[in-house]
Formats: sequence, structure tokens, C-alpha cells
Amino acid sequence: MGSVPDSSALPAPSQLRVAPLKRGSSIDHLEYVDVSPIIGREYPTASLKEILDAPNADEQLRDLAITICERGVVFFRRAQDDLSIDEQKYITDRLGQLTGRPKENGLHVHPLYNDPNNLPMANGKTDANIYVINSEAQKKLYATMKNRPTNTEPRDLGREWHSDSLFETCPSDFSFLRMESTPPAGGDTLWASGYEIYDRLSPPFRAFFETLTATCAQPVFKSACDAGDYPVMSPRGAPQNVDFEFQPVHPVVRTHPVTGWKSLFAGVGLHVSRINGVSSYEDQMLREYCLRLITRNHDCIARMHWTRGACAIWSNECTLHAATPDTHLVDGVRTGVRASGIGGVPYLDPASTGRREALGLPQY
Ligand SMILES: [Fe+2]
Repeated sequence: MGSVPDSSALPAPSQLRVAPLKRGSSIDHLEYVDVSPIIGREYPTASLKEILDAPNADEQLRDLAITICERGVVFFRRAQDDLSIDEQKYITDRLGQLTGRPKENGLHVHPLYNDPNNLPMANGKTDANIYVINSEAQKKLYATMKNRPTNTEPRDLGREWHSDSLFETCPSDFSFLRMESTPPAGGDTLWASGYEIYDRLSPPFRAFFETLTATCAQPVFKSACDAGDYPVMSPRGAPQNVDFEFQPVHPVVRTHPVTGWKSLFAGVGLHVSRINGVSSYEDQMLREYCLRLITRNHDCIARMHWTRGACAIWSNECTLHAATPDTHLVDGVRTGVRASGIGGVPYLDPASTGRREALGLPQY
């Protein structure tokens, strides 16, 4: 099934700082369709509960994790109604554990977990490792944050693109979102392939981008906590994620620790505040260029039109994603529950290559 190239037939390059993982065949029996040649895979009928209950559950989860890292994002379309919140958390954590994440790391705790607008789950409980995404609550929360646009300003959805927890020293590896209720229309989520965006840079631009770092400051957390008079959560999924400054420096191009492929990482997005070492004009120009690469190359994008109970699991180490805040147009509310793992400190391995080069594909 499927003819999209992957790493399963390739020898692993041995000179890399972290040896790439090779996918096995334990989930080859699952029906799937690739969303596009470049990014995304949808499983229309697969059950995550059945994967968990299988005698070789770890083998299947490891192969699923590697598939996610290669394809960027996977969708489970069948409503996963029999999966508990604890099982969702377990899967998110286990995907990272089985693919070499630092042993001391676990699930992310959102800094604003104490915010009163952080809604309880459908069962009435809250969980520090579960972020309830609700289109109505987010509107109220954003109103407390500085520098957020209001409804009176022109719409620019380009600002929605981000990679989860980039404001942490150790950002997210896997994120797992299950949609519990959907609006009559809208509320789609989009993922862009950081691998392919990197590959679309010319060789001189690649070399330049690889010299760059970005500061990923997110002062809105402090301002939201001050406005609400509640403490920032800490630690947040890794021993390094304890500070209240939220201004780590990350490489603009990183190496994915599971595939060994280079990806555009901290070049643009909601959590990127400054490309370092360049003038402010150059900073603005570089980030706008990265955004332009995403918005003008929609073949690098997989789009999820949510159905109730459907799930998406993605690798934040090679994708950016963006929500579509259009549910107010149909008077609808979108509610989902998200768990995110925390990976290692991002790095660029000079011995790594782009995805196209690694797979023997022609340059774009
Ligand atoms: Fe996100």
C-alpha cells in the first residue's frame, strides 16, 4: 500500500550524532492513505485502543512514532471513543520513550494550567498534562495577553503557525490532539512540512540559515499570570523547563533526532520573537521569507477537517501547524484535548542531510 518513499529500505548513515531509527513492519497491516506526497498519513479505520491492546504494542507504537516523524503528522479518522484520557497520555509519552527521547523527560505541563479559563475536560476534571483546547475559552484567554490582535484588526492567519512549546528549552516532540466536539463547519488544522521547507531553500540560503539561531520569547505567559494572579507551572516536562523567562534560543534549522533529516524549525511562527545576530530589518525579512515559503507552497501542507472523535498525532520536530479561527462564523465551538511530550534540546547536526537527499529524491 502506498508508494511514498520512506527510510525503511535505506542503510542508516553512521556518522550522525544520533543514529536514525528504521521503521519495522508491525503496522503495515493498517489501512492508510497518504494525505499528500510530502506530508501526512490518514488511517481511516485503525483503532489506537487495538494497538495498545496488541501483544506487540510497543513494537507497533515505535513504528507509529517513526512513521509520524517521517510523514510529519498522522490522522486517525475513526472516532477513538474507547480511548481514555490516561491512554491518550500514555501513547503520547510512549512514542517519545520508544524513540530515544531523554529518559528524564515526560509530558508537558502547560505554563497556564492554573488559568481559570483552562477548562476542565468533559468528565469535569482537570489534568496538568492535558490541555483542553476550546475556541471560546481561548478568545477570553487571549484577551488578557499583550500584543494579541483584536477582531477589529485585519485578519492575518499567518501568525497562527507554530511548533508546540517552542518557548521551552526542551520543546515538544509528539503532540496528540483528540477532537471531542466540532463546529458545523470550519476549525480545520494545517501542518506544514519543515523538511520540505528546508529542501526548498537554495544551497546558499541553506548554508546561511544553518548559521542562525532564534530567540523564542513568549512574555504573554507572564502577563497572563500577572493579570490572573496565579503562578506559572514548573517544572514542565523536563528538568530544564523550570524558568519563568520563556526565552530559549533554538536553531533556525534543526536535525530531527529520529529521522536524522534537517528541518526548518525556529525560522518563523507564533513563538519566534527574534532571529539573532542580524539587524531588526533583516530579522523581519527572514521571518517573512520563511512564512512566505509556507504560505506559497501549499503542497507542503496537510489539512485536517475534523470529525468528532478523530485524532491527530504529529512531530513538532519537523512540522509547524496552524489552527483556523473561523468557528465564530458558524456560531460553533471546537473542543479538543491535547497531550504533548517533551523532547531533547534541539540541535543541528552538520553531518545530517535534508529529507530529499536522504531518500534519494530529486531536489525540488
Ligand atoms: Fe499547537
